[in-house]
Amino acid sequence: MDFTHYKKGTAAVWAGESDRTFEGATTTPIVNSVTFAYDDLDRWYEVATGKADGFIYSRNNNPTVRALEEKIRILEGAEAATSFATGMGGISNTLFSLLGPGKRVVSIKDTYGGTSKLFLEFLPHYKVDVKLCNTSDHEELESEIGRGCDLLYLETPTNPTLKIVDIKRLATVAKKVGAIVVVDNTFATPLNQNPLKLGADLVVHSATKFLCGHSDAMGGLLCGKKELVEKVFRFREINGASLQADAAYMIARGMKTLELRIERQNTSALTIAKFLKAHNNVSDVFYPGLTTHPGHAIAREQMSGFGGIMSFSLLGGYEKVKEFLPRLNLVHLAASLGSVNTLAGPPKTTSHVELSDTQRNLLGIPESLIRYSVGIENVEDLLNDLDSALASL
Ligand SMILES: Cc1ncc(COP(=O)(O)O)c(C=O)c1O
Repeated sequence: MDFTHYKKGTAAVWAGESDRTFEGATTTPIVNSVTFAYDDLDRWYEVATGKADGFIYSRNNNPTVRALEEKIRILEGAEAATSFATGMGGISNTLFSLLGPGKRVVSIKDTYGGTSKLFLEFLPHYKVDVKLCNTSDHEELESEIGRGCDLLYLETPTNPTLKIVDIKRLATVAKKVGAIVVVDNTFATPLNQNPLKLGADLVVHSATKFLCGHSDAMGGLLCGKKELVEKVFRFREINGASLQADAAYMIARGMKTLELRIERQNTSALTIAKFLKAHNNVSDVFYPGLTTHPGHAIAREQMSGFGGIMSFSLLGGYEKVKEFLPRLNLVHLAASLGSVNTLAGPPKTTSHVELSDTQRNLLGIPESLIRYSVGIENVEDLLNDLDSALASL
């Protein structure tokens, strides 16, 4: 059944799972078979050579994994989708299959730490020309894209300072020079933002975060133009960064409640950001839903909700952060984000741990910053928790 015309909350539940091909099961089962058997050699050959649909070997394709790929394809309004063992598997496969020696990529300084590491170390090693622009400087980005590039890579809102980049504006310039536009939509999720509708060619997700939603499975998803997705898939099926059926099942299960969770996290995060903004012990709050946020106007245009993540700095620097965080009760002090539980930590030990102090400084990430990923707990309890920890400083 085609779920393209249903609302996202409905598609998140039904897409990829509607065909009761497994003895009437109403949920796509976990198919842990590595290989798929054929009695008819001609049919086997047709499937193996891509002339007929079917499954051969789980490094290439798997029924549980395909159900998940179909869910993200529908939610992002894409022609095609594929998957990876982790979000970084998705990002590195995309960049390494679409770029090569002599190619030029333009991106922003504020990408996720692992992605930054690809731009700062690994891609230059393979003679890719990387230009990282100041994230909020759209003029600089336009001029660098205009000089000619093969790929424009964006992430918005950014990790961890929640900067906002205008996807439509930059995709328009990228189209003029024939560049492929890739957007990491992990923070927003397809519920809050659809980059393909704003001119992107490909959207990549760490499915480990909000899509899974429970911090109990890892995965990466890529969707967009069929020709490009297929190119990345061809590379992934050989380098082997494939998603396992068990993880695909957990992520697809999490995605069924995506709309409920995102609505709750959007509302709670805005309430908490306003509370922190007004607090005397807090020096800065970065949340695109605040009208004082420099990217608020763009976020209003391109997002339907502002997301569940914010970051803030305390007066008193890193010493105060070390005092404050352990005093919170309703939070895991841990890496990652987008779970049903609230998670918090300094980028120095979480998202940007791979980078040196100098690299983090270059990216404008203050030592005293705390990233706070709002869970689905009752917001009054979260506010009380923050309030008492801040009052005790
Ligand atoms: C925005 C963003 N993209 C990509 C990733 C990488 O995802 P994974 O940890 O699933 O490899 C992360 C991880 O935190 C992230 O925050």
